Amino acid sequence: MTMQTLTVKLPAESYPILIGQGLLSQLSSFAPYIHSEQVLLVSNETVAPLYLEPLKKTLSDYELDTLILPDGEAYKNLTTLNQIFDTLLAKNHHRDTTLIALGGGVIGDMTGFAAACYQRGVNFIQVPTTLLAQVDASVGGKTAVNHPLGKNMIGAFYQPQVVVIDTEVLTTLPARELKAGLAEVIKTALIADADFFVWLEENINKLRDGDQKALSHAIARCCAIKADIVAQDEKEAGVRALLNLGHTFGHAIETIQEYKQWLHGEAVAAGLVLAADLSMRVAGLPDTDKQRIEALIKRADLPIAIPQDISSEQLVAAMQRDKKVQGGKLRLILLKAIGKAYIEENTKQETLLSMLDPASS
Ligand code: NAD
Ligand code: GLY
Repeated sequence: MTMQTLTVKLPAESYPILIGQGLLSQLSSFAPYIHSEQVLLVSNETVAPLYLEPLKKTLSDYELDTLILPDGEAYKNLTTLNQIFDTLLAKNHHRDTTLIALGGGVIGDMTGFAAACYQRGVNFIQVPTTLLAQVDASVGGKTAVNHPLGKNMIGAFYQPQVVVIDTEVLTTLPARELKAGLAEVIKTALIADADFFVWLEENINKLRDGDQKALSHAIARCCAIKADIVAQDEKEAGVRALLNLGHTFGHAIETIQEYKQWLHGEAVAAGLVLAADLSMRVAGLPDTDKQRIEALIKRADLPIAIPQDISSEQLVAAMQRDKKVQGGKLRLILLKAIGKAYIEENTKQETLLSMLDPASS
């Protein structure tokens, strides 16, 4: 079995990302990074029946406790977070304990935040089980829960000891979730790697069909790009913001839909097309590049426009409420070319409206 190892190099501490098939059943994926007898495995009611027993078997030498949380973004809140603290305290976990997050981005973000807070910080390990979490959420140390007034509003930057990516778990992921993860893969190529974008154009059908070899390549490339960006700017003072390409549009769609219709990746996909359209108008992105972006997203079977029941005005108003608005001007990530993203500080509302609704201008 082949395994790839990447490193997230940070000033304080570096950590590895392990990528391979079947890593969940190998003690060597975990043992070097667990410095305790006690381990708390945190998963949810969908992922646990699939992968908790195999992981428990791998880690049978440790004192294992498990916590199975309800599934869904709706539960990514302080009440659920408190269940993690309740379990840690009830089971008398010490400061040297290790938390392991087995699940998608929701479980990873919550378990990471619990690890950041419990006794002022304990070790944790990410075992991401969705494509989105494998290519994005599990890497880089952003942890958080939602507040009724805002998504990811309570959290911390807190890095794991290791990220263990077993690509085999993607075989049980619903097709819609796999495609949503592909939106973040396409985003990553657009930000930083034109050659990877070409590779995606050649391999998108394989990725959509869950081909393990193609998925492993895409995951490794995305993790390498993200690791490089995070190494330059761990706390998002600058370049890390590039990872938000398409996200201001996407978040606006998700907010208007109250997170009940499109998946995050689906909203990001439409957001990428809108960012490309705007980039063509204000940043010199060639029309042919914009068309390639739209075509790839369409081939990934992802949305290329905002939902029909959302008006341009509604979208722009929701974007203005986004935390990235500074002094009335929107801060957006745009593209000068495929593989070359930059931060545009000066997008005016009128420019957006005339792009979204050309007839009205
Ligand atoms: P998710 O965690 O809700 O998982 C999606 C669904 O897939 C869930 O129903 C889950 O139970 C199920 N699932 C997970 N793995 C499975 C598997 N192998 N087989 C079958 N079903 C499986 O969603 P997500 O897309 O992984 O993550 C979204 C979350 O990640 C959001 O809360 C977002 O804010 C966060 N996020 C964080 C970062 C970061 O940098 N920390 C980046 C992007 C997204
Ligand atoms: N998902 C964006 C980031 O990690 O910065």
